[in-house]
Amino acid sequence: MTQSDWIMRPATAGDKSAVLALINTVQPHVPWSPEQYDWQLTRGPVGPAEVRVAECDGILVSLYVGTRKLLWVDGEIRPCVMVQDVLTHPNYRGMGMLNALAASFLSEMRERGDCGYTFPNKLSENSFRRSGWYELSPVPALECDASLQEGGTDLAVEVSAFTSSVDTIWPDAGIAVGVMRTAEFLNWRYSRPGNVYRRFIISDAGFLILKSYDRGTQKVVHICDLVLRESARALCKPILTLVKYFAMQSGAALLTGWVPIGHPYRHAYEEVGFARDTKNDRFIFTTGPANLLPTISNKSHWHMSQGDSDVY
Ligand SMILES: CC(C)(COP(=O)(O)OP(=O)(O)OC[C@H]1O[C@@H](n2cnc3c(N)ncnc32)[C@H](O)[C@@H]1OP(=O)(O)O)[C@@H](O)C(=O)NCCC(=O)NCCS
Repeated sequence: MTQSDWIMRPATAGDKSAVLALINTVQPHVPWSPEQYDWQLTRGPVGPAEVRVAECDGILVSLYVGTRKLLWVDGEIRPCVMVQDVLTHPNYRGMGMLNALAASFLSEMRERGDCGYTFPNKLSENSFRRSGWYELSPVPALECDASLQEGGTDLAVEVSAFTSSVDTIWPDAGIAVGVMRTAEFLNWRYSRPGNVYRRFIISDAGFLILKSYDRGTQKVVHICDLVLRESARALCKPILTLVKYFAMQSGAALLTGWVPIGHPYRHAYEEVGFARDTKNDRFIFTTGPANLLPTISNKSHWHMSQGDSDVY
């Protein structure tokens, strides 16, 4: 079979059940519900996802998804796409569908002037190398034993949703590159169906989002997002100490988080006991217009947390 035997096209609303069937055939261990589809592909705050499919024998057999974000690059807001959910039906693998969809999608992004980032798995990472994405760094996964701490519990107030008062925090964080973390983004991101998140406001100085999950028999607390105004960075260590306290309270033995090397909070994480999670072998890739590449291809410029990956 050659590329002339299939067609590539944008997905339409009418493809929803075929897209769900394909996803649930390829990854039955992490099935998508119709609610997950709506949240992920139609309700993002920057607009519906760019979804491309390959069709063969009248069946939808390969999928390539880019969800829309707004990327903060040196104080300016740029259109951005996160590529995710790339998959091909087992009967149609090895025919070049992923590589063809990847090449075509990247040229569309270049025409629009989009920035992009992605967290591929081992099966698809070479497609990003081959098509010209920049290999930014390994996923900066950290972990830390949750030992008993004295926590300053008055530092953070738990809230059920963020209000527009958080909108000034991200632009004031003194970080060069990262997805815009407005209240609208945070409220959408942390309402992923089937997940429970804890959201906190750190006075007027920052915000924190935590999630609990099970790793085998171990209960883990993950720091999905922690952002502080630049003037409040000294709070990072006390907040992390507080998170260790929350983790102990909830019966977790381990804390995890993602913080790039060179990020302004990395030292605080290391000082409270976080160290690299050597089991994580994934890479992050980025792309963008030539004039922005020097900034977005520097890993120490990024704020990159698990909140940037819609998988968790
Ligand atoms: C990864 C995947 C999308 C590749 O799709 P595909 O249409 O078969 O890919 P292509 O034919 O364009 O080949 C792309 C790469 O996949 C490899 N590949 C193709 N068929 C494969 C198979 N059956 N098993 C493993 N790798 C395979 C090719 O060798 C090629 O590798 P390279 O880039 O290192 O040369 C597909 O194997 C898949 O759906 N896997 C499960 C879902 C998944 O893990 N997706 C990635 C999530 S980020």
